[in-house]
Amino acid sequence: MIIKPEISGVVARSAHPLGCEKAILQQIDYVKKAVPIKQGPKRILIIGASSGFGLAARIALTFGGANADTIGVSFERGPSDKGVGSAGFYNNLYFKQFAQAEGRLAINIQADAFSPQTKEEVIEAVETYFEGEVDLVIYSVASGLRPNYATGDQWRSAIKPIGEAVSGASVSFEHDQWFESVLEPATDAEIEGTLKVMGGDDWEAWVDALINAESIAKGCKTIAFSYIGPELTHPIYLDGTLGRAKVDLHQTSHSLNLKLANFSGGAYASVCKALVTKASVFIPGLTPYLMALYQVMKEKGTHEGCIEQMQRLFSTKLYGVDKVPVDGERLIRIDDLELDPDTQQQVAEIVAKMNQSNFIDAADYAGIKQEFMQLNGFELPDVDYSADVDLEALIASLNTAD
Ligand code: NAI
Repeated sequence: MIIKPEISGVVARSAHPLGCEKAILQQIDYVKKAVPIKQGPKRILIIGASSGFGLAARIALTFGGANADTIGVSFERGPSDKGVGSAGFYNNLYFKQFAQAEGRLAINIQADAFSPQTKEEVIEAVETYFEGEVDLVIYSVASGLRPNYATGDQWRSAIKPIGEAVSGASVSFEHDQWFESVLEPATDAEIEGTLKVMGGDDWEAWVDALINAESIAKGCKTIAFSYIGPELTHPIYLDGTLGRAKVDLHQTSHSLNLKLANFSGGAYASVCKALVTKASVFIPGLTPYLMALYQVMKEKGTHEGCIEQMQRLFSTKLYGVDKVPVDGERLIRIDDLELDPDTQQQVAEIVAKMNQSNFIDAADYAGIKQEFMQLNGFELPDVDYSADVDLEALIASLNTAD
């Protein structure tokens, strides 16, 4: 079959496996030439490993100097009568093939991270493949809902302001359109739901399960990713439901830090840069900011993608240092280049002038749209998109890498 992009709004309904392969190869190439990760961990569990920061972390730690083995948990779909499957599904297969080619172990577990059964399955895999212990646990899940396994209900996250309504613009990649909307403040139930889905509760449940199973190695660290951003984004992010969930994540990092101190380890939340990922394009009001940020940071030569962020995090902050550098709230800051005052001033000026009729040229719309397409395996260089892809044969050949 010939695979074409199918986009609804900001959701990709198709993915191109050969483009996913290319995107992974580009990231591997980058980390192999970058400042290497020294004294890195060897046995890593990544929860949310198939795209965005989790995938970039997996690539950095495998190919960027640490030579780590990884178990990756993700929630992705393969081909079915509904479509070709998600990019993350192919990312998992290709990552595994490339890791194995360099003698590294890469185990993919596609299951619901929130489920107690998945935690058991992963602990068994840690027993089987990692001699029973992990050196680093990365929690990088971004989800819209979380089943409550105790009651059979589910929690939903809502990306909304708290207290008062906020207006903001979103963009549809499908029609290159700009939408103004007013977001009403979240209800208490929506605040609570977002906290349960995107806060620290499940991260803590994972670390507790690993501690109880005696699967934490001496010196084990754990990390999750947060966002703070400039004042411009605070009404919809930091002061809204997602920000509330991130504050919870920060609190969780402190309680996990105490628990891991018993193993001479530590727990951290790392505040990352705003980037186009499957999850972030959903945040109403954030896209105009992203367009302006990409424009300014690219012009200044300070722009980073997920892979640059992760390689820098592990090589300069978390490993190979005497002490993990943190701010006054014990957060690792890898959002320093984004928050540079001159960058933010220029971004604010661009955002102030951006509107429905000029947004395509006023900032880097082309750049963020291309990044979105590339996340799904489209618009990558040197990929023959007119070629017929036999998905069954391709998946069978990738699976024989086992
Ligand atoms: P993403 O959408 O690219 O990746 C999310 C990962 O979670 C995927 O591997 C997906 O398969 C997995 N996942 C989702 N639901 C799951 C489930 N039920 N069970 C197992 N796996 C599941 O998202 P992204 O942007 O990389 O987000 C990761 C973390 O980074 C989030 O905590 C996000 O808030 C944070 N972050 C993102 C920023 C951004 O601008 N993209 C900035 C700063 C922090």
